[in-house]
Amino acid sequence: MKTHKSLIVIVILVIGTLLVGCENTNDPKYNPPADHTVSQGGYMHKSGLNQPLTNCVSCHGNDLRGGNTGVSCFECHGTKW
Ligand code: HEC
Ligand code: HEC
Repeated sequence: MKTHKSLIVIVILVIGTLLVGCENTNDPKYNPPADHTVSQGGYMHKSGLNQPLTNCVSCHGNDLRGGNTGVSCFECHGTKW
């Protein structure tokens, strides 16, 4: 009985992951460069995302509001940094 229940949970999780995966490949919000390899909630971030004021300002702007990429960190995060 116990094994049966956890199997169902695993199946649901796998199906959920697959659905989210498809959504992302079919309808990406932006078209990030290939070096954006860290998926966060389905959105591709570049590595070093925890130090954005060092690693992301060169493209996303000194204030992280988009710069020459047009993608502001704050459109998804609020004013965090
Ligand atoms: C060399 C330039 C460059 C650097 C450095 C850079 N980005 Fe980006 N980023 C881009 C471009 C270009 C896009 C896509 C813009 C578009 O599609 O309109 C983008 C898009 C994104 C997106 C949206 C992705 C999606 O799937 O919707 C996120 C999130 C992001 N970048 C996070 C980061 C983070 C975090 C860093 C720093 C660790 C970073 N970027 C550093 C150029 C850069
Ligand atoms: C298109 C939406 C989107 C954009 C633009 C975006 N992010 Fe994110 N980011 C997310 C989502 C969704 C998560 C995962 C859920 C969460 O933790 O908020 C996330 C998670 C993160 C995390 C890890 C969790 C946390 O909150 O500390 C960091 C760090 C981060 N993003 C940094 C950035 C930086 C820096 C930029 C701009 C260069 C950026 N993000 C742009 C959607 C986005």
